[in-house]
Amino acid sequence: MPKSLKEKQQDLEQLRKESRKGGGDTRIAKQHESGKLTARERIDLLLDKESFEEIDAYVRHRCRDFGLDKQSYPGDGVVTGFGKIHGRPVYVYSQDFTVFGGSLSEAHAEKICKIMDLAMKNGVPVIGLNDSGGARIQEGVASLGGYAEVFWRNSMASGVVPQISAIMGPCAGGAVYSPAITDFIFMVKSTSFMFVTGPNVVKTVTQEEVSSEDLGGAETHSNKSGVAHFASEHDAHCLDSIRRLISYIPQNCEERAPHQIPAEPDRQKAEALDELVPANPNKPYDIKDAIEGIMDKDSFMEVHEHYADNIVVGFARLNGRSVGVVANQPLALAGVLDIDASIKGARFVRFCDAFNIPLVTFEDVPGFLPGTDQEWNGIIKHGAKLLYAFCEATVPKVTVITRKAYGGAYDVMNSKHIRADYNVAWPTAEIAVMGVKGAVEIIFRKELAEAEDKEKKMQELEADYEEKFANPYRAAERGYIDDVIYPHETRQKLIHAFEVIQNKVDSVPKKKHDNLPL
Ligand code: HXC
Repeated sequence: MPKSLKEKQQDLEQLRKESRKGGGDTRIAKQHESGKLTARERIDLLLDKESFEEIDAYVRHRCRDFGLDKQSYPGDGVVTGFGKIHGRPVYVYSQDFTVFGGSLSEAHAEKICKIMDLAMKNGVPVIGLNDSGGARIQEGVASLGGYAEVFWRNSMASGVVPQISAIMGPCAGGAVYSPAITDFIFMVKSTSFMFVTGPNVVKTVTQEEVSSEDLGGAETHSNKSGVAHFASEHDAHCLDSIRRLISYIPQNCEERAPHQIPAEPDRQKAEALDELVPANPNKPYDIKDAIEGIMDKDSFMEVHEHYADNIVVGFARLNGRSVGVVANQPLALAGVLDIDASIKGARFVRFCDAFNIPLVTFEDVPGFLPGTDQEWNGIIKHGAKLLYAFCEATVPKVTVITRKAYGGAYDVMNSKHIRADYNVAWPTAEIAVMGVKGAVEIIFRKELAEAEDKEKKMQELEADYEEKFANPYRAAERGYIDDVIYPHETRQKLIHAFEVIQNKVDSVPKKKHDNLPL
């Protein structure tokens, strides 16, 4: 006798219940005890209320080995689907640690690949919430193949749709390379870790004793390695931060970021702009005060806040429009460019360029960091990344020179010569090959050696050099900067400039792809 309509509906209800239960109450309780939310609770917090539509809730693994033929869960350890953030669609996958430790089977990988393919086809961002023991050990090479399918899609989607990864539990072995290819990595403090080889293998191979947290926790990756762009306090904080990030970026490489209602900048900071840069060029100040005094209030979202803090990067809004900010930070290492700062800046510039987010550069840079450490570790090739990134960027590009623009770093930091659209300098700007003292010591070595009163001579020569070069006017005479402005005028000038350059059309020569220095 065929089943009645009611019975069929009951079957569906039963299956739905089973699928929503994941690995069951005991494992869910364990997940909560360890300070983590479940895969579904995370999706609920990430997306707008009741916007989630699940796909593939009934998919099961096909493994028959090691007793898995008797153990399977609908959904197979990953919840996938689509929903909205601030009313705009996103695709999402959320690994369920309560099912086989969120490990990746062939079927689990297929689910992730399916939403990635849909995201590419529909031009929608992909957000991956990772919480997984890695390759499903019982499935062997089928699982490895699954990972490779995901990696390939991550690579193809790069620069087409934004890809965001949150690490909310384990992410180990080759599994780290999916997040690594994506645009932004969030990690949760104390409950997440990422490493290629775990503490046990490290101990066997190198005799080092290190905890999971020290080896690959959120603090390690957001401070030391720069692998993570954001370190969150807990799951809810992480998901909320992803929602905020999404508000600055477009859906895909063909679109622009959404506008928000404009807001005036922080009043106190705006009023203090004219006094921000100290008269003494060796005294530091906080470039974030300039950013906050110019951009819409509370709009600055810093990326990589605790990594290479001699350069500041992040998203902000200028009169309601999304911009990417790149700024030298005189508070840290005098704002010098080193390897880490160059890589951090380059990656951010390339993201903004790929996704049509205009760039605002604040420049106060004494040059590249000298030393064997930097040279032997390749400051030449890494510094070139930042130069290359600014050169190839075709988005509207604006530069504000607040103080030092010395040497090669002047060229690198979005100079006019590499096709910046609107470059201005504050009266405190010093645009020169190098600082006063160093320059005088080199070009007047003979005069100084012969001088009777060396100190007096030095002072005279320094004053002369300062008069000639420690100002923005030599550069202005050549049109290398478009205007010299009062700091308090900056916001208005930038708003006006963007009104004109926002539809700029620029291109790079036809090529298969570039060969940026790696
Ligand atoms: C199958 C797995 C699993 C895996 C965990 N489980 N990892 N099942 N394949 N990779 C299962 C456990 O059997 C357990 O099942 C449940 O998930 C929870 O695991 P626990 O060990 O109880 O949890 P916990 O103590 O929190 O430890 C989590 C862990 C640990 C650190 C992730 O499980 C672990 O070390 N797992 C193995 C990690 C690993 O070596 N993966 C392969 C990496 S190589 P029950 O039924 O008891 O709930 C790799 C290659 C990728 O990933 C290749 C890409 C190129």
